[in-house]
Amino acid sequence: MTQATVNITAPATNDQLLDATMKVIAGGGSSNMRNLGIQTPLVLDRSGGCRIWDVEGNELVDVNMGYGPHLFGYADPDILGAVADQLRLGAVTGIPHRLDHEAGELIAATVPTIEQVRFAQSGSEAIASTLRLARFVTGRTLVVTFEGHYHGWSETVLRKAAITNNGEGSTRAVPGAPGMIPEALAHTLQIPWNDPEALDAVFREHGGEIAAVILEPICGNAGVVHPRPGFVERIADLTARHGALLVFDEVITGFRVALGGAQELLSVRPDLTILSKVLGGGFPVAAFGGSREMMEPLARNEAFHAGVFAGNHAAVGAVVATLRKLRANPSVYDTLETDCAYLERRLTEVFAAANRPVRIARCGSVMSVALLTKPQETDPRYDAAVSLIDFAAHRRLQLLCQDAGLYFHPNPLEPWFLSTAHTRDELDTVVQTIGEALARL
Ligand SMILES: Cc1ncc(COP(=O)(O)O)c(C=O)c1O
Repeated sequence: MTQATVNITAPATNDQLLDATMKVIAGGGSSNMRNLGIQTPLVLDRSGGCRIWDVEGNELVDVNMGYGPHLFGYADPDILGAVADQLRLGAVTGIPHRLDHEAGELIAATVPTIEQVRFAQSGSEAIASTLRLARFVTGRTLVVTFEGHYHGWSETVLRKAAITNNGEGSTRAVPGAPGMIPEALAHTLQIPWNDPEALDAVFREHGGEIAAVILEPICGNAGVVHPRPGFVERIADLTARHGALLVFDEVITGFRVALGGAQELLSVRPDLTILSKVLGGGFPVAAFGGSREMMEPLARNEAFHAGVFAGNHAAVGAVVATLRKLRANPSVYDTLETDCAYLERRLTEVFAAANRPVRIARCGSVMSVALLTKPQETDPRYDAAVSLIDFAAHRRLQLLCQDAGLYFHPNPLEPWFLSTAHTRDELDTVVQTIGEALARL
């Protein structure tokens, strides 16, 4: 039998290439979250700094930035250089490497509650392993989660995305997805965020059965929602009193909202922490960790976590390069805060001038911008106001901006991630593009 020839002559336009891609990649991309965001096809050729270039040669300023890993912008030369060197020296051998020690030391020196870590490839994997460890340590099964918080796609924590195929938004993230083991959902209890009564009630009813409470300490996946003062402290107090573990999903907030993550900002100490995104500076890596005592079942090979590519040398090299750079430039967080506060102020003015209700909420360089049907009366810091979001208008705004050279995610619940590569000029371009799009909306 002769081998079939593979025809890979690339079609020239975004439309044609996405069509061709959809024939061989289910849905056109390897993530439902991303595929649901496609409106007008945008197929990339390359990225650099805070810019992306599509296959037609169009250049766009990007504020989605690959969902958050690139604090120093795309293709940061220091991180890229370190990873390229490591690729030449060997990316995966399955044998402990000298970089492992340095990466572990750097994480332990940077994240307040971590003494020991394990590496994984993605946030979902690291979270699945963390929850298994929490269940092993406590001998319990139930895990408490919060509405709107996303902890990856593993069996017990998946929540359906808040935007549907037809562009309509749903106001609640529904537990589960078709094809999941239905019984798995019985092992998680989901309660509203920032609701002390619901929190007290879940511990009153199930206190002795709860293995862990997992949360995004500052919720990035429901439009950047801060915890109300005292709320995370209350979770910490209840978990400690009932023998449950406190798990911070710092996939977004780790190294992003402060060098030591949200736990540094909030001064609440979780038992276990998950890190990803900024950790690898754009390369696929995640980590989970805690005190030596907490990680002991993994050290003793009693709790199970594994992976051929987990902690591969290229990924660990990216961690070392990123953390070295962050620790050498601690003022980066002040600079990002100043620039993002400027962007927030200017955007607020532009939406007001266009007479368009909007919810803008921010923590450092993570920002949420969502068009609303009417002005929000509650405090945008603590209330996502999802039921007020005008999903359809937001998607129209996104299309106009994409055409005019600005990319943000069409789902208003997906945050913007700013980077040191976004200069004031680029921030002004963002504001101007949105202002012009609003005039045409
Ligand atoms: C807070 C949070 N946790 C977990 C995840 C899942 O990580 P991954 O997509 O790498 O599996 C994400 C992804 O965006 C996230 O934002």
